[in-house]
Amino acid sequence: MSHPSETISSAHTRPYAPGEIPSNIYKPNTPWTARVLENTVLTAPDSPNDVRHLVFDISGSDLRYLEGQSIGILPPGEDANGRPHKLRLYSIASPAVGEDGQGKTVALCVKRANTTDPETGVVYKGVCSNYLNDLKPGDEVRLTGPVGKAFLMPETANANMVMISTGTGIAPFRGFIHNRYNKRKGDTGQSWLFFGVQTRREYLYAQELESYNKHDGYHLVTAFSREETTADGRKMYVQERLYEQRNALLKLFQDPNTYVYICGLRGMEDGIHDAIRRGAVEQGLDGQALMDAMKAEKRWHVEVY
Ligand code: FAD
Ligand code: A2P
Repeated sequence: MSHPSETISSAHTRPYAPGEIPSNIYKPNTPWTARVLENTVLTAPDSPNDVRHLVFDISGSDLRYLEGQSIGILPPGEDANGRPHKLRLYSIASPAVGEDGQGKTVALCVKRANTTDPETGVVYKGVCSNYLNDLKPGDEVRLTGPVGKAFLMPETANANMVMISTGTGIAPFRGFIHNRYNKRKGDTGQSWLFFGVQTRREYLYAQELESYNKHDGYHLVTAFSREETTADGRKMYVQERLYEQRNALLKLFQDPNTYVYICGLRGMEDGIHDAIRRGAVEQGLDGQALMDAMKAEKRWHVEVY
């Protein structure tokens, strides 16, 4: 898999005014049929998980999007009741200029969602994620969107971004970082990226994420939950890494230019809140009040599923 193009075409014009958010250009009853350009396995061959980087050709369409938005996918076929399968949402993994730098592609990062019943051993296969991960280049796929108005990058150059992700929750941050370091080159704010996965075999986009280490102010912090433990023997989750970095983060949280983004597993929020409260108390700060203020000021963004 190649990194998104660092050459951004000046011909890429946005059909919306600055500040305007593209929304529902294609709706479920009027989807765009795109072609698959690429389907790359991101997980290592010996991983029990299967996560793909899928790139779709949207040239010829009116589809435009911003980093942090999502795309809807309409899987073909019907459910057990004979009704068409319902739409599933996926975070966009490419920057707004696409993989090609010209806005003619959109990428998703999809985990095959299969569940095994521990008692019967029966495997339930997720409808849409299996459909997507089995697609081949040249296949057609029905897209809708973009959707999402709340998980967008701050516009100011000196904004600090604290991005916290688990698994495929890395998708929007891949776009954020690419935008910050390849397009908005004058940005001065810090970028903290916390990324939790099971093992190094599931370290999605590793090489690309590490390639930004050359930028001052970029801090990539990984948490390999099944390879690493805390000093007292608990699983290494992103919230443990947040706690380790509490001094730097609590300073940032008190800065009105700091924006927090949480993306990934539903359930990851509680541990994050708890780590921030624990760190704050040690410094005589009220962590809950800090988080409440950030929420009220629209500096706290969550997309969990
Ligand atoms: P479904 O068919 O909907 O099934 C859901 C789950 O239930 C599966 O794990 C399946 O194994 C299990 N299941 C089905 N039947 C049974 C049964 N009888 N008993 C027990 N279990 C059963 N996903 C990503 O991979 N990447 C993303 O970037 C991403 N972004 C998202 C962004 C948003 C805003 C939202 C809301 C969701 C996002 N998702 C993302 C999740 C995605 O939308 C789907 O929910 C996910 O792919 C599972 O859909 P599916 O059709 O494969 O599974
Ligand atoms: P683990 O599965 O080892 O408990 P997934 O691979 O399911 O997408 O998960 C991505 C990462 O998020 C894994 O490392 C997983 O750890 C971790 N994780 C699971 N539950 C939580 C949670 N409540 N808070 C933070 N991380 C979590």
